[in-house]
Amino acid sequence: QLWALRIFLIFHPKVGKTSLIMSLVSEEFPDVVPYRVEEITIPADVTPEKVPTHIVDYSGTEQPHRECRWFLLVPANVICIVYAVNSKTSIEKVTSHWIPLITENTDKDSRVPLILVGNKSDLVEHSSMETILPIMNQHSEIETCVECSARNLKNISELFYYAQKAVLHPTGPLYCPEKKD
Ligand code: GTP
Ligand code: MG
Repeated sequence: QLWALRIFLIFHPKVGKTSLIMSLVSEEFPDVVPYRVEEITIPADVTPEKVPTHIVDYSGTEQPHRECRWFLLVPANVICIVYAVNSKTSIEKVTSHWIPLITENTDKDSRVPLILVGNKSDLVEHSSMETILPIMNQHSEIETCVECSARNLKNISELFYYAQKAVLHPTGPLYCPEKKD
């Protein structure tokens, strides 16, 4: 294996990051989840793009984990910013906290593609897209957005497919050299 792709899931507590990962792996919604699951590896042959893929969970609750922000130090190929579609506060934190945090800590010349993931779509009637689209338009590093539900397994495999695709076939310019030679 020459290389593997590393997907990070980050956000404040309780939006369902761990549930999403466990729903993908077990194909059923877990009633009880730990704060965080250890890094898991999906073998190449079961991924749509045939690339071995590591999925890394971040817990907004687990103390040492929350404090150390290790995810800024370990190279990620793509970061999924997970919010909850039923929580306005969580949508606000996408732009007030997480995007600035990532931007400040990543090299301007090698932007990590971001995916906005609205989880818990089973709890709402209306989509959050109206709020999300202007955010996408303001931040070119956001590759795509997806609404999903760990509970009824909606768009879970799609989410991880989009994450792979964002790395392998990015649509936006992720590498923007300041000057041309
Ligand atoms: P931290 O590890 O604390 O940062 O939280 P987390 O983002 O990993 O959230 P977690 O997976 O622990 O889920 C938080 C709560 O939301 C749990 O009670 C889950 O059962 C619930 N939950 C997760 N996904 C969904 C979903 O798609 N729909 C609904 N209705 N509830 C969900
Ligand atoms: Mg968790």
